[in-house]
Amino acid sequence: HAEATQLLRASIAHFPTTTLNFDEKVEIFTDGALIVKGNTIQDVGDYLSMHTRYPDAVINDYSGKWILPGLIDSHLHYPQTQSIANYGDQLLSWLENYTFPAEMAFEDEAHAAHIAKVFLNQLLKNGTTTGFVFTTVHASSSQALFRAASDINMAIVAGKVCMDRHCPSNLQDTPALAQRESADLIDEWHNKGRNKYALTPRFAPTSSDAQLAAIGELASQYTDVFIQTHLSENHDEIAWVKSLFPSANGYLDVYDKYNLVRERAVFGHGIHLNQEEWERLGEARATIAFCPTSNLFLGSGLFNMEQARASNVHVALATDVGAGTTFNMFKTYGDAYKVSQLRNAPISPLEGFYLMTQGAAAAHKLDDEIGNLNPGTAADFIVVEPRFDELTALRIDKDALFKDVFFALSILGDDRMIEETWISGQCCYSKKENLDAMA
Ligand code: GUN
Ligand code: FE
Repeated sequence: HAEATQLLRASIAHFPTTTLNFDEKVEIFTDGALIVKGNTIQDVGDYLSMHTRYPDAVINDYSGKWILPGLIDSHLHYPQTQSIANYGDQLLSWLENYTFPAEMAFEDEAHAAHIAKVFLNQLLKNGTTTGFVFTTVHASSSQALFRAASDINMAIVAGKVCMDRHCPSNLQDTPALAQRESADLIDEWHNKGRNKYALTPRFAPTSSDAQLAAIGELASQYTDVFIQTHLSENHDEIAWVKSLFPSANGYLDVYDKYNLVRERAVFGHGIHLNQEEWERLGEARATIAFCPTSNLFLGSGLFNMEQARASNVHVALATDVGAGTTFNMFKTYGDAYKVSQLRNAPISPLEGFYLMTQGAAAAHKLDDEIGNLNPGTAADFIVVEPRFDELTALRIDKDALFKDVFFALSILGDDRMIEETWISGQCCYSKKENLDAMA
């Protein structure tokens, strides 16, 4: 049946193309309009010209607010939703003390289904419309997340964690089981609706050579699935990898030997890489997920954005919940900015915005579907109220430039700035309705 065309009037900002020239290429419509039909963006432009072109559209007036593309979180863990904010450990003991126990609970499918819902609600209320998500070793935990995402037509990228050693025995699979379950999940979910699959070996220490080889076989067979894992996050981790894989030429080479370094491979962290590894990542067109709140929380180190740019490596921003301390991508850029200040090379607000929208989408080769507001892409977008409380109303002028609004919100903001989150042309989260329901 014919669905009504909608015109959403607001200030609008997005990057329509892939670029390194953020100031020049950001597209801003101060009095703009987004045209939505069904699950798709039909057009974007100035309000007056859109109103003339679509005279019959139903008008929603969001004047004074900003419409932005839905945000992309390129690395996080849904089974760690309840392990945020645990005191005292760095990576390896944090995994043992907090993470593995939380993941064991996902053997229970009802628990997985419950946390999947809570997790997706956290994404929505923070404006995130696509996540690259680690589940647990249990194939059923991936099923639970794909099902919950499918219910709201959300584009989720996820995969079953593969690990066959150096973790509790009830969290271990085997090389053969990891391969079979991952292949089954690909057949069932990859490109089904908006879902996409990511082969997900947790990290080198928890996979045997035989398991990495088995996953590498799938990577060669299914060239359009994603790969996600962790890389060079922590000094003790790196030393451990060196002792476990003595013949490899560094951490990245462990993955490279098994055909896991390629386009659509997303490596979490990459804080302590050497020159050769940077160059290899750039040449392979792989992506690093920069997770500043996690890197600060676990004391892992300060990501080197300048080195990434110099080596032409794709970078995307990510929360890494539950080592990350927030689901909010604006705040995540706020911490990326602080990390870059400690290196005396501040990441600009427009680059920060790019790294959670078009830049991330392009790195993942998904920018014909998400990351921008171009005609023909999915209608995944957010409505932001910049002046959501007394302080932001004082700090942010009504007519402030987008880059200044974005920066102030990245330092001062939280989920209260997200008025609405739309996915596939449907409003899936409304702050007002959420508050009314709680009252
Ligand atoms: N390395 C291996 N597993 C994990 C994890 O769950 N979180 C983080 N931050 N690093 C890891
Ligand atoms: Fe992680």
